Amino acid sequence: LLDRALGEIGTADADGLEALRVSLLGKSGSVTMLLKSLGGMDPEARKAAGAGINLLKTQITDAISARRATLDEAALAARLAAERIDVTQPPRPEPLGTIHPISRTVEEIAAIFGAMGFAIKDGPDIENDWNNFSALNIPSHHPARAMMDTFYLTGGEVLRTHTSPVQVRTMLSEPPPIRIIVPGRTFRADHDATHSPMFHQCEGLVIEEGITLGHLKGCLSDFLSAFFGVPNLPVRLRTSYFPFTEPSMEVDIGWNKKTGEIGGGTDWLEIGGSGMVHPNVLANCGIDPRRYQGFAFGVGLERITMLKHGINDLRLFYESDVRWLRHYGFSP
Ligand code: PHE
Repeated sequence: LLDRALGEIGTADADGLEALRVSLLGKSGSVTMLLKSLGGMDPEARKAAGAGINLLKTQITDAISARRATLDEAALAARLAAERIDVTQPPRPEPLGTIHPISRTVEEIAAIFGAMGFAIKDGPDIENDWNNFSALNIPSHHPARAMMDTFYLTGGEVLRTHTSPVQVRTMLSEPPPIRIIVPGRTFRADHDATHSPMFHQCEGLVIEEGITLGHLKGCLSDFLSAFFGVPNLPVRLRTSYFPFTEPSMEVDIGWNKKTGEIGGGTDWLEIGGSGMVHPNVLANCGIDPRRYQGFAFGVGLERITMLKHGINDLRLFYESDVRWLRHYGFSP
């Protein structure tokens, strides 16, 4: 019995092994039956047979455990081999999108002004008339309202025509000193190769005691030099008019119109508006114009992005053409 059992156990698979265990050691298994037969023997014979049967049981039990351990080990080894991951393989390429050039410009501007101590603000696309116009010293019937090609919504609200209403929101909600930039969407009813009904601006606003035009010029020069990566980029402030600044100036940068090189050449290109915050605007926003001065500027983000990266058609920004995005977008 022992030899046959050991032979069978030694070659059994997992199911066969369990069947053998039942047939040998189970309730009516052959070894169990032998043990039971001891009860009918007289003491002498029981003593003689008992030791042998118990040894038989132990040997079979041990053999079954040993075979089970071998089978488990083999099963584990097979699984490890089957599920093996080769960590030296390069990862499968995941389809990754790119960062839109406008988003990239916003990130860069935020980093440059962040280093100068500016906070980033935003405001809603839908504005009330007072924030977008009146508080900014543009009363009803002022010609600047017509100039801005405003989208009016029913109920008297507007799609903001510039990021300047966030100047108003900020001055109303926090005391000076104020140093903020406001990158965001703006809207004007205008559409051609150089105008889109939705475009982006970045507003800047500084309100503190003793702020001068010199601070405005220095701040814009530092920002534009850093953004375009051109040390001492020529920046020209050219007198202009905005209702909310006095004096008001267009912001021009030097470039070469023929080659598109920023900072090279003798041509000038307008990239935004600026000025000293009008005393009426400060007063409208609860700030004492005799104590505080400030400057503000607004830069067109499409414009500076196109210049920086040699993009020549504004409309491409909004078409979501994946080939264009792959070419002009930035890896995350
Ligand atoms: N809001 C002006 C525009 O959209 C730009 C500007 C901002 C001018 C701040 C002066 C100061 O044209």
